[in-house]
Amino acid sequence: MIEILKNEKDFIDFHKSHSNKSVGFVPTMGNLHQGHLSLLEASFKDNDISIISIYVNPTQFGENEDLDAYPRTFEYDMQKIKDLHQKFSDKGIFIFFPENNEVIYPNEFNDYISVPSLNGVIEGEVRPTHFDGVATVVKRLFNIVKPTTAYFGKKDYQQLRLVEKLVEKEGLKVKIIGLPIIREEDGLAMSSRNNYLNKKQREEALALSKTLNKIAEHLKNNGIEKALEFVRASLKTDNRFNYLEVRRQKDLQKVESTEKDLVLLGNLQVGTTRLLDNIEVNL
Ligand code: PAJ
Repeated sequence: MIEILKNEKDFIDFHKSHSNKSVGFVPTMGNLHQGHLSLLEASFKDNDISIISIYVNPTQFGENEDLDAYPRTFEYDMQKIKDLHQKFSDKGIFIFFPENNEVIYPNEFNDYISVPSLNGVIEGEVRPTHFDGVATVVKRLFNIVKPTTAYFGKKDYQQLRLVEKLVEKEGLKVKIIGLPIIREEDGLAMSSRNNYLNKKQREEALALSKTLNKIAEHLKNNGIEKALEFVRASLKTDNRFNYLEVRRQKDLQKVESTEKDLVLLGNLQVGTTRLLDNIEVNL
């Protein structure tokens, strides 16, 4: 049976009756797809109990972003979780679905977090308040859920690195696991924001994974300098790219030509939708 936890009081009861159990946690904003479910499946395998949260966190949305339009599909999500649970697990499953914003941000809340080395670069340059909002909500969710292990997708690569930094900086006792991007058959990275695309835009969106793959080919066959040349040319000829970056995997710093473990990060503007993708390349 799936239980829904709605507030801190529910968690007090939960922790009382489940001490000494390993708890896997998958934070999400809902509208679940195979990408989210791959994280939950990993949690089912590794832990006695799994908790998935569904909460559209207002503090990570900028003023002109899609907070109101963000898809909220609780019944649909619940069914997906039920189906996956039936298929893969006979262990405990809970959904954390805060009954209102005050559960996460009570009146007395003042623990707003900033992780300076990662919040002003790449995605954070375009969305200056986004990562502070993510760090703040993730710490708050961890405090309530108290997971042993938490699962994040590499789809949001910078977010994954940010959460790792947050855990280190704040000395939080949770293990972070990053898992691969799940894609549609044609290569488009799965995302709740793909729902915003019409048929023509859905085709245009493929330019992102295709270009990242081409940069990866250049890196493998022709080295970093040639790959960076290709990046500059792509940015010049196609102004839909908000950015294309070649960075170090471990800390997302700019790369030297001797660097071996790289990640190619890209963001493509399709209409009003910003699509995010990346590829890891180990030379
Ligand atoms: P959301 O966009 O719902 O994503 C929840 C988790 O699913 C994140 O860890 C994300 O990286 C992962 N994910 C999304 N698409 C994926 C894909 N195609 N393949 C693999 N994993 C994928 O990320 C957030 O929510 C929020 O910022 C959150 C962490 C919940 C804080 O509010």
